[in-house]
Amino acid sequence: MNILMHNRVMDITRMKNKKKIVTVTAYDYTMATLCDEGGADILLVGDSAGMVMLGYKSTIPVSMDEMCSFTGAVSRARKEALVVADLPFLSYNVSKQEAIRNSGRLIQCGADAVKLEGGMQQAETIQSIVNAGIPVMGHIGLQPQSAEILDGYGVRGADKEAAEVLQNDAQALQEAGAFCIVLEKVASHTARAITDSIDIPTIGIGSGVGCDGQVLVIQDMLGMHKSSLRFVKQYANLSEDIRWAIHTYKEDVENERFPAKEHSFGDDV
Ligand code: KIV
Repeated sequence: MNILMHNRVMDITRMKNKKKIVTVTAYDYTMATLCDEGGADILLVGDSAGMVMLGYKSTIPVSMDEMCSFTGAVSRARKEALVVADLPFLSYNVSKQEAIRNSGRLIQCGADAVKLEGGMQQAETIQSIVNAGIPVMGHIGLQPQSAEILDGYGVRGADKEAAEVLQNDAQALQEAGAFCIVLEKVASHTARAITDSIDIPTIGIGSGVGCDGQVLVIQDMLGMHKSSLRFVKQYANLSEDIRWAIHTYKEDVENERFPAKEHSFGDDV
């Protein structure tokens, strides 16, 4: 791990119990520049890119090449934030060697750390990646890469037994060396209990206010498409602004109001 990368990860872990960790997803240079300038602590190059950037129905088809391309763009934009890149479906499950190699590719593209989904069954893989010098963010609760095929999109950790499983998962990830854990759609009392019981920060999405930080998908929070997800708060309505801008541009072009003289060169009237 180089010194700067190490410092950025340490800065995030030191925020626990002091300051909430503000995380947004980012996939391209322009948006990542704005998110970094806006003060996000972590830019997460999530495999949610599969849906919001590439039009796939789930995260399953996302490839390593696609994640590398998004990660490169975001890392070239970043000035202050920590850049964490998702390991896509099957890029870390076949063998530890492949997990390390694919994590290394994302680091070579500019990520400071990688994220992978899974509880204690992924602990050994996480340990191998960390031992190779690459910081790992865990992701438990709803895990989109398996939800589609295995266990659906319901709330996780609502009852005592399910909460205990998640608690053990979080502990195992911490012991494996993860520097941070995403808790997705975990019942808020369980998310708070997990957060209070481990030393590394938790980043919640749909998991209540008791987590050490929060993450939202940038297109959801900016209102770039309709989201019916209860845990999303919309902070802007860019879809309306963009449609209005395109419509106005269309009218201007069709009626020769654009380009005007000030946008043109030469003497044509
Ligand atoms: O892919 C993603 O964007 C994520 C976050 C929603 C946590 O994993």
